[in-house]
Amino acid sequence: MKLSILLATVSGCLALYDPSSYTDRPCGDDITNLWLDVVAVVDNSKGMRFDGLQSIAASLVSVFGAGTRIGVNSTEKRTTRVGLVSYNEKARVNADLTTYTSFDDLFSGVYTALNDVSSTELSYLSNGLGAAADLFKKQSFGTTRDHYKKVVIVFASAFKGSGDLDPLPVAEKLRTDGAFIVTVAYDQDGNGDLMDKLNLIATPGFNFSNTEEGGNLIGKIQGALMQSNCFCPNNYDQYRVSFADKFSYRYGSCLLPVNIAASWKPAQMSCRNRKAYLATEFTQHKHDFIVKSVSSTTGFHPPLSYHIGLNQVLGKWVWDQPQGLPQIELRSWFNWSPTYPKKSSSFPGVQNLQNSNSTQWQNIDAFKVSTNYICEAYACDTDNYCDDNGTL
Ligand SMILES: *[C@@H]1O[C@H](CO)[C@@H](O)[C@H](O)[C@H]1NC(C)=O
Ligand SMILES: *[C@@H]1O[C@H](CO)[C@@H](O)[C@H](O)[C@H]1NC(C)=O
Ligand SMILES: *[C@@H]1O[C@H](CO)[C@@H](O)[C@H](O)[C@H]1NC(C)=O
Repeated sequence: MKLSILLATVSGCLALYDPSSYTDRPCGDDITNLWLDVVAVVDNSKGMRFDGLQSIAASLVSVFGAGTRIGVNSTEKRTTRVGLVSYNEKARVNADLTTYTSFDDLFSGVYTALNDVSSTELSYLSNGLGAAADLFKKQSFGTTRDHYKKVVIVFASAFKGSGDLDPLPVAEKLRTDGAFIVTVAYDQDGNGDLMDKLNLIATPGFNFSNTEEGGNLIGKIQGALMQSNCFCPNNYDQYRVSFADKFSYRYGSCLLPVNIAASWKPAQMSCRNRKAYLATEFTQHKHDFIVKSVSSTTGFHPPLSYHIGLNQVLGKWVWDQPQGLPQIELRSWFNWSPTYPKKSSSFPGVQNLQNSNSTQWQNIDAFKVSTNYICEAYACDTDNYCDDNGTL
């Protein structure tokens, strides 16, 4: 899945999600619609060398050059601001988050700023990260762009510093505050130690090197940016490859277990009022993820029971969808309890019910059986802007 997303980005063949594909919605992958606040933190100490700096400038320009809107725009909210910090012994803010107001600004600004390698061997990443944290604090958190995800992209040739100059606590603080950290190791001496250390500060899965296999560093950074841009409103669980690992590959789909019992039709209405729909279970993986999600939600107790989006319309079993879209006919992976579905048009709703073996589907009256339910909504991402209340 990850690979196909990256390939789609590289080859530029973007397609909006089509529910009739009977797959779960991936995160939006249109780099032109990225909406983030990003600070690039670039090591310009002697060890980086001039050719290193030049290739960083080229990488940065290429990551956004695919058409990302740089700066702010009053009519199109999906824009990305990019700041630039260079560091050696000390950090210097070459561009704050308001400096570049267009891609052309970024292009010339980045090449100008990264035109000189420093004469010092000292390279304190903690200072660079600190300057990035400062920019977010002054220009992003608590502003009209508070709800834009924040990403630091570190390009480093060394990992130095202890005590006050240790980069680890600064990185941890940034991540606790909700920022993502992408690292790119420029291991100019090739001893491997740099990568091991940078892995410790990167958001899991966002650690790269300038010698990425297949030369696809740009695609990997873009992929990390689009995953960072893909998130759910508060209280929703984002559907992902592993429930236990919240850094595993994310889908563009958000799940909300609701612990206030209702019968099937009112549950569907309540999801619609949240701009959501009753959840689909196209696969066993999604079903199992939902079981784990409800099992860790207050108000859900064994034997688990909850409504999902499967329902019968004109004799066909179909999955609920966002309002206005056609429902999707049940096609593969069937999870009916033994002896179900009951052949009766007066049982058109479906709940999951836990029995001694597993949690399985049973069709029920749409107005008489009250239980908890699961709403699902598209994630906020490049295809789907969310306002500052996290409203979809
Ligand atoms: C803002 O976005 C709109 C819609 O994409 C575009 O037509 C307009 O040129 C943009 N304005 C600026 C200042 O970039
Ligand atoms: C990223 O970090 C993980 C975990 O430390 C490691 O297994 C992986 O090889 C690293 N990837 C790169 C490109 O360094
Ligand atoms: C549990 O599984 C066994 C064997 O597959 C089956 O005979 C039985 O009916 C199942 N029980 C329930 C409650 O689904």
